[in-house]
Amino acid sequence: MIGFEEKGGILHADDVPLTQIATEFGTPAYVYSAGAIRGQYEALALAMQKALPPERQPLLCYACKANSNIAVLSLLKGCGSGLEIVSEGELRRGLKAGFAPEKIVSTGVGKQAREIAACLEAGIHQFNVESLPELVHIQKIAAEMNKTAHVVFRLNPDVTGGGHHKISTGRKRDKFGLGRADVFKGFEMAAEMSHVQAHGLSIHIGSQVFTVDAFRQAFEKLPGMVGELRAAGHVISRLDIGGGFPIIYKDEKLLDLSAYAKWVGDIILPLETEIIMEPGRYLVGNAGVLLSETLYIKETNDRSFLVIDAAMNDLVRPTLYDAYHGIEPVENRDAPKKLYDVVGPICETGDTFSIDRTLPSMKPGALVVIRSAGAYGFCMASNYNTRPMPPEILIDGERVAVIRQRQSYDDLIGPEHIPEWLNR
Ligand SMILES: Cc1ncc(COP(=O)(O)O)c(C=O)c1O
Repeated sequence: MIGFEEKGGILHADDVPLTQIATEFGTPAYVYSAGAIRGQYEALALAMQKALPPERQPLLCYACKANSNIAVLSLLKGCGSGLEIVSEGELRRGLKAGFAPEKIVSTGVGKQAREIAACLEAGIHQFNVESLPELVHIQKIAAEMNKTAHVVFRLNPDVTGGGHHKISTGRKRDKFGLGRADVFKGFEMAAEMSHVQAHGLSIHIGSQVFTVDAFRQAFEKLPGMVGELRAAGHVISRLDIGGGFPIIYKDEKLLDLSAYAKWVGDIILPLETEIIMEPGRYLVGNAGVLLSETLYIKETNDRSFLVIDAAMNDLVRPTLYDAYHGIEPVENRDAPKKLYDVVGPICETGDTFSIDRTLPSMKPGALVVIRSAGAYGFCMASNYNTRPMPPEILIDGERVAVIRQRQSYDDLIGPEHIPEWLNR
């Protein structure tokens, strides 16, 4: 798989043996391949270049909730990416990484006053509005600041997409977006507002969407609506068609990017708007692994537990979404096979990375990687069980950089405080 290959019997990240990373930086640790991230960006950009004319290329706004390390952001900015953000924290990260505010879009159902203000202050490209009360709130804050808020309305297309019900966002029952009638209402309200300018629509149907047909179904909701909105006198100059492109966790068949790009060309392009896309997982997911060390092999009557030093606090996807992640040893990859339950040290049965996984037989001290951990990995990590956050390491060919240090216990426990009146 991209970025991580076996060379001389040892799994490498680009040109660097993962054994070296473990020795230098310890485990657990997230390791990312810069080349793999660049490759994914270029593949998506190329698919769009083939399907759309040069002057109509989409603004690819990386959905940085997938992996928000500022070095990763800087790398994608260097590729030409814009940014999709969901919080003031992500805005701050984006600005620190050097993104131009005109390439930043803000999404999410619960934008807070200070987040809206920070986005207005920065001068971002647009807010993707998810409810009418939010629109009113944005107008109020923009008026107080005497700024113009540029908005598009997120349409809930009532299309099912997404690899797990928790990451499917485009169904009518989901909390995301506005129904058709409310989109029309939103445009009418915005037309009356002093500090809001409405520009168009957005959709995002979910994450890990495998069927190109789900995208097509969602896109097909747009031309009719755009026509009706224009007929009602509204300007529709932007369409944000979201993210959701899948990656490989097991043996999935990837989305046919050229088919996707063709639907964009056939359905979206003729609407003569700026086109925005919000890829997250696709750009970084397969470009990262979680590197871990085997602590113990615990044999019981009927199970062999491979107890590793990574846990659900480091990578929550298996327990949160029942997600499959490939697991491989870094060395001794041809050893006879054995069945293991791969588990972490946390005091929950859910702290299990896989059940009955066939792996080359392992010994204490053996390194393993958990694959496809570049997206929704570190950024969803927690300190559960008072475990420090792992470091993040970026590899580019032979170059190695710690892009986030392992959290120290001072950082972890330091902000806590025992009130002096306690136990008096
Ligand atoms: C509005 C929006 N855009 C883009 C994304 C990125 O999705 P993905 O990582 O599947 O591309 C998400 C993910 O939750 C999202 O909510």
